[in-house]
Amino acid sequence: MNKNFDVIVIGAGPGGYVASIRLAQLGFKTACIDEWKDNEENFALGGTCTNVGCIPSKALLQTSHSFENVKNSFFEYGINTQNVTLNLQKMLERKNNIIKKNNSGILFLFKKNKIKFFHGHAIFTGKIQNNFHEIQIINKTKETITAKYIIIATGSKARSFPGVKFDENLILSNKGALEMINVPKKLCIIGAGVIGLEIGSIWRRLGSEVTILEMSSNFLNTVDEEIAKKAFHLLNKQGLNIILNTKIHDIKINKENVLINYSNKSTNVKTEIITSIFDKLLIAIGRIPNTNNLNIDKIGLKVNENNFIIVNDNCETNIPNIYAIGDVVRGPMLAHKAEEEGIMVAEHISGQKHSINFNALPFVIYTFPEIASVGKTEQYLKKHNISYNVGIFPFLANSRARILGETSGMVKILSDMKSDEILGIHIIGPMASELIAEAVIAIEFRASSEDIARICHVHPSLSEAMKEAAMSIENRSINY
Ligand code: FAD
Ligand code: NAI
Repeated sequence: MNKNFDVIVIGAGPGGYVASIRLAQLGFKTACIDEWKDNEENFALGGTCTNVGCIPSKALLQTSHSFENVKNSFFEYGINTQNVTLNLQKMLERKNNIIKKNNSGILFLFKKNKIKFFHGHAIFTGKIQNNFHEIQIINKTKETITAKYIIIATGSKARSFPGVKFDENLILSNKGALEMINVPKKLCIIGAGVIGLEIGSIWRRLGSEVTILEMSSNFLNTVDEEIAKKAFHLLNKQGLNIILNTKIHDIKINKENVLINYSNKSTNVKTEIITSIFDKLLIAIGRIPNTNNLNIDKIGLKVNENNFIIVNDNCETNIPNIYAIGDVVRGPMLAHKAEEEGIMVAEHISGQKHSINFNALPFVIYTFPEIASVGKTEQYLKKHNISYNVGIFPFLANSRARILGETSGMVKILSDMKSDEILGIHIIGPMASELIAEAVIAIEFRASSEDIARICHVHPSLSEAMKEAAMSIENRSINY
């Protein structure tokens, strides 16, 4: 076999597999290496997102939402349901089948595009000959391959709590928390970030008593404050017990449960230690880049103080012809951001110009209601003394939301006071993840709120809330 390639991509997550396909489309001889093993020790393409992230979490969010809806809301539609019970095994099987379909879909695309896939752990050997970097693949055959260009797309892993190891039985990362075969009676989650809220929602809907311990006093501090406040209220009302301002003092792992000592700064003048026992503990306090397993010191690749690979706007590292993309570099850890960087780098290698507008990068939290955002938050505009207009439309006044029985939340549009250019759109409400696409286009094309207000939207539809929010900037919303 010829072991020389034009490009080697390390990692087949959303960054790496998308980069590989785009490179192949552009005519590059491409190899992709990934070490992921499923529970049967087979390779499984798609990285964190497909195997233990976006896809399984959304599959379980969907089924747990349906379960809760059938149990609690169907009678409102005039549908009587009795003895609704949970078949958790079937729920997990369905989720695993969705993962497998995605794994095999990527493999099919690799074959279709003639991308050579290697299963194993990649390391730099440090050898460079005629500008070709050598990579060793640690597997049974220990092959070495070379390429002129290397793309590092090795992703990230869950950050553990100091002194506490993930065993995926009592102490869970996102992996174990999406594979539990029984509904834990009492689940504790450390971290009220995206993973804590999404996975907490899944198990609460299935019957767990969920407590989320968050160190910050500022709930979802990257989200628009008004939306975050609304979300905090709605999620607590649903039964997620989110406790802000907590400090974890001690975690004791027993045979069958976990004991946590924590204090809550906001309610106690004197620090009172609260002791609680939980059946499972999910630690969701952020993720760390996978950089310390690649032999990067052999090639002098620069990382920052948190071990993220340092890159420029084109995702070029300090070493010529070596790029890095996705969770392993700066910016939000999102699958669609990794994918965009994958496409950008492939096109950069081919000599095309492409850039990413980080201001138009959307972000969604798939709780119920969903929270979706793009552009600047109100607190950002205030902090930077940017004058703005606000337009708000509540889903309570939207017919489609009433038909769905999902009226909580609102659309909020922020536009520049002088030019009316849209600066940010923030949504909490049904299908916010889909509605945000219109907002992304508006921001990318630098639309004004007047543009959205003048566009005809379908009736009855949730998207009318977007038009009405834009109209409300000049106090001419019709239905509110
Ligand atoms: P990864 O997906 O982590 O892939 C990296 C790949 O590299 C892995 O397959 C790994 O096996 C491989 N690898 C690492 N080191 C080596 C090596 N030395 N040799 C060979 N292979 C190696 N984002 C969203 O946008 N939407 C969501 O809904 C969403 N939900 C999420 C839910 C959860 C629970 C989690 C944990 C994350 C979620 N994310 C979501 C974030 C998303 O999963 C990541 O941003 C995305 O996977 C990053 O893609 P990546 O290609 O950079 O890395
Ligand atoms: P996160 O950064 O979203 O949240 C971590 C939370 O833990 C923060 O609120 C932080 O204040 C808190 N925390 C940190 N240390 C703590 C401590 N010692 N005690 C108590 N609280 C502590 O990280 P998370 O939830 O782990 O997710 C990681 C990344 O995965 C996210 O940043 C996101 O980019 C990605 N993701 C995206 C999803 C989506 O797009 N829908 C879904 C899930 C994950």
